[in-house]
Amino acid sequence: MRPIYLDYNASTPIDAAVAVAMQPFLETAFGNPSSPHWAGRPAKAALEQARSQVASLLGAEADEIVFMSGGSEANNLALKGAAWALKAKGDHIITSMIEHPSVLEPCRFLGDLGFRISLVPVDRTGRVDPDDVRRAITPKTILVSIMHANNEVGTIQPIEELSQITRAHGILLHTDAAQSVGKIATNVSTLGVDLLTVAGHKLYAPKGIGALYVRRGTPLEPLIHGAGHERGRRAGTESALLAVGLGAACDLARELAPMKRVRALRDRFWHGLKARFGDGVVLNGHPEHRLPNTLNVSFVGRIGAEILAQLDGVAASTGSACHAGRVELSSVLKAMQVAQEVGMGAIRFSLGRGTTQDDIDAVLDRLACVLAAAS
Ligand SMILES: Cc1ncc(COP(=O)(O)O)c(C=O)c1O
Repeated sequence: MRPIYLDYNASTPIDAAVAVAMQPFLETAFGNPSSPHWAGRPAKAALEQARSQVASLLGAEADEIVFMSGGSEANNLALKGAAWALKAKGDHIITSMIEHPSVLEPCRFLGDLGFRISLVPVDRTGRVDPDDVRRAITPKTILVSIMHANNEVGTIQPIEELSQITRAHGILLHTDAAQSVGKIATNVSTLGVDLLTVAGHKLYAPKGIGALYVRRGTPLEPLIHGAGHERGRRAGTESALLAVGLGAACDLARELAPMKRVRALRDRFWHGLKARFGDGVVLNGHPEHRLPNTLNVSFVGRIGAEILAQLDGVAASTGSACHAGRVELSSVLKAMQVAQEVGMGAIRFSLGRGTTQDDIDAVLDRLACVLAAAS
């Protein structure tokens, strides 16, 4: 069976143009960006150009971009760094029930340290109600962290509305944009955020690189103390190799037109599923406010992991895990109050630049065979 990759929300391949941009830094340009001599200067110049490329994609200034090892580190810095820097002001943080573990776990850790964490719910489409956030705010609230788009179901949150609320209260707003950068517009001014997370390997850059946008003047204690790299935000010699990769990927991501083709394929997939399986298949996530590449569907009464295991050569993800003979729904599907017999059949298909119509048609055919054999 020809392998078909429909797991772009898990990770993307490195774009060919990104690999070309990185090549010199694998071969000759090895200098330390902090060294003022002939070997360091080109590395420093490349690092700063990459910073400008990331900034330009986000509509930010270059000095507002801090290179990170990835989305998890950026989320950790946003939460722990802001909490620590603002602890004299307040001890309350608001986030949602469907955040990535790299937001929820730092929150749990901060909770152990004495911070108070409020988890706002989501509706059945996975959307946060801004009024719930408004109601959760107290005089001690210092930070709201709500993801831009959810990794499992693709639901896009009303960040612009949330930023109006946080600004009116003088509270910082962080958004985890690991899944949205490169798929939809992520301009920090339009969104109104103070902190925004970028994960390189979700947008055709290598793994091991990401960035945190930090609005000028935002108080933030670093996670890694040391020499003054990254304007004191993150100690450690920067990797020009990886930064250049992220910069090149961000340049490519400024063009959102390719996502139109991806959206059309995603919709073809959904209509194909409906035509074949009718009411046996349901959509998880918001019908409109959703990433253009993401299709999370449930095969009602079936088990997603079992379908995937039989779907030879198709790389995709399930929203459920088997524990002691029982299918445990993901925390995202649970928060969306998806019924057990629906949620256990969830599969996330996520498309990307390399997806073709042939891929979609072949997966539809393979699914029809697997489901027919099982019934
Ligand atoms: C929404 C979201 N946030 C954060 C991360 C973590 O990013 P990284 O893998 O770069 O640490 C991921 C990765 O799956 C994600 O989907």
